[in-house]
Parts: sequence; structure tokens; C-alpha cells
Amino acid sequence: MIGRASLAAARRLGRALSWEPMQTLSHAPVVLPQANEPCWCGSGRKYKRCHKRSEGRVLPGVVSPVRTVPATIGRPPYADTGEVVRWDEPRVKTPDVIARMRVAGRLAAEILRLAGERVRPGITTDEIDAYVHELHVERDCYPSPLNYHGYPKSVCTSVNEVICHGIPDSRPLQDGDIVNLDVTAFYGGVHGDTNATFGVGDVDPASRQLVRVTEEATWHGIEAVKPGRPLSDIGRAIEDHAKQYRYGVIRAFIGHGIGEQFHSDIQVLHYYDSRASMIMRPGMTFTIEPMISLGTWQHKMWDDDWTAVTADGKRTAQFEHTIVVTDDGCDVLTGGDGAVSPTAPWNR
Ligand code: MF3
Ligand code: CO
Ligand code: CO
Repeated sequence: MIGRASLAAARRLGRALSWEPMQTLSHAPVVLPQANEPCWCGSGRKYKRCHKRSEGRVLPGVVSPVRTVPATIGRPPYADTGEVVRWDEPRVKTPDVIARMRVAGRLAAEILRLAGERVRPGITTDEIDAYVHELHVERDCYPSPLNYHGYPKSVCTSVNEVICHGIPDSRPLQDGDIVNLDVTAFYGGVHGDTNATFGVGDVDPASRQLVRVTEEATWHGIEAVKPGRPLSDIGRAIEDHAKQYRYGVIRAFIGHGIGEQFHSDIQVLHYYDSRASMIMRPGMTFTIEPMISLGTWQHKMWDDDWTAVTADGKRTAQFEHTIVVTDDGCDVLTGGDGAVSPTAPWNR
């Protein structure tokens, strides 16, 4: 079968053969061509039909071999098979489950903070993964992403236009990147899930504003949690804030119920939809994790079937907390002292 890629390769080859003399630049020059001028690489194709679409984009690197977790550490059921078998888990947790989730949440928050302190230009996302893996093992935690539906690493590392589920690889972080680290720790039979977006070196003002506003939107969502109210209040609060900056709220990825299972059936949309009518009850546990972009809310997937990127290639940021609904609002199980985003920014 001839796929699109090989047709494109054949076309490139044909053009290259009729293009004399052939230039062979392997790196983009400092001054880039206009869209309709020939590409800098010497293919003979217009720049807009050749390298323009990948310029400045994140490229996949090499993924290192799978890391192992000592057999003495308690593992979730999918750890050995990669298969996730869901069961009916009560949405309202018992005090015992909530107490264990507080511990898992605090551990996840601490690991996220320590991992974030390692972010700097030149470190590869694989090196961050190795460190996050070690931080889990030191704390007798299982890193929940590892082998979840076959996911190959212990943390998700999502750079620039990568929305979520970026797989750590050999790509060094570059000065000016933004990177989200999404940590989920399994401890005491329950999961704690939290993430934050970090700047790498000197970040441009537009990206810094995106990160700030995304953290604010997350806390607006958290402050909308009230028993007796529908889940749609959360999405409304987040979307209202993002809209003031004309940012896009990603739709394809949502917050989720969490507890003994990594993902259970509560769905937390980050935009307003009247159908999100489930009523919040004290003892419910779920995540709030909006992904907000400088452009479109639409996404596309890399061929690895994990990495989600913005359809327009613009940057996107995310923050995530695991919360429990209380009698008058919620407790943030992954917040508080020692967390990257401990409280609402306006309460600090
Ligand atoms: N931590 C992510 C979330 O917030 C899920 C990652 S699933 C993985 O829901 F398999 F990619 F790790
Ligand atoms: Co989550
Ligand atoms: Co997460």
C-alpha cells in the first residue's frame, strides 16, 4: 500500500532531480523564505508546502526503554498488562478512601514540585522522566501513567503546542519553551493527579500570560465547586476567564472522577455545556485540569496515538488539581503548602 508519506517522498524526489544545482541545507537558515518562495532545504517546493509547517514545532525524539518499579511497591491492576479494566466505583468516597487520597495527593504534589525544579534549558524530557520515576520509587509510590493503556513512561511531558500526554524522549528543552509536567502517584490503593506548566529559561510575554491565565482559570473552576450545583458551573467559570483573553479552551480532554481508579465516570468539561448536569455531592472526588491555547480549541494527534497538539500549532498550557467536594465547597488534595500552585493566586 502506498501511504501519503511515501507519495510525498516520491514527489520530493522527482522535484529534487529536476532542480539544479541541488542545495542541501539540513538546518533552517536565520532568514526564512516567504511562503511562496522555494524552501530553504533545496527541495524545489514552495516553502509553505515544505518545511514551513514544521518550523518552530516540537518534533518527536527517541523514547528510551521502559523503566521498572520494584515489586515491593503496591501497583494498580493495569501495571503488568497495560489493560485497564474499569469497575463501578462509588462517586461519593468513604472517609477512609478520602483520607488515603489526601496522602496520595500530597505525594503527587511534592513530586511535581521537585520535578519542576529540574526544568531548565538542555535537560531532556527523558531525563525528567527518570527523575520523576525515582521520586515515586523513593516514596513507595507507583507512577500511575506507567503502562496505563500501554503508556510507556512515568510522567507526561507536554511542550509548547503539545496539549497533553506528551511522551518523554530525547528532546532537550530549549530556552523559551513551556512544558507541562503531569504527575499521578498511586499510593495506598488510590491515585493523586496534578500538573503544572513551567517556563524554560527566558519565556516570551505572550506565553507567560497564557500560563498565568491558565492557572487562574483552574482556580476559578475550583472555586465554582459547590455541593448541590451542577458540574457545568466549573466549565462556565473556566471558559469565562479564558474568553476574556480570546484563548481557546481545549474540548477533547476533560477532568475525570478519580480514586481507586485513575479515571472513573465523572466528566468535568472545561467549557460550558448545559448537559454537564450531574450534581456535585460532598465526598465526590474528581480532577479539574483545563488546557487553554493561544489559538484554536481544536486538536490533532501525532502518529504515536498519545501526543495531542493544537491544530494550529499555537502554544497551550495546563494546570491540574485533584479535589474532594466538601459541605461548603471543596478541598484541594494536591494543593496547599509545598504545591506548585498551592492556592488561588489571588489568595497568596
Ligand atoms: N494524568 C493524565 C490526566 O490528567 C492522564 C495521563 S494518562 C497517561 O488525566 F497514560 F497518559 F499517562
Ligand atoms: Co487527570
Ligand atoms: Co494528570
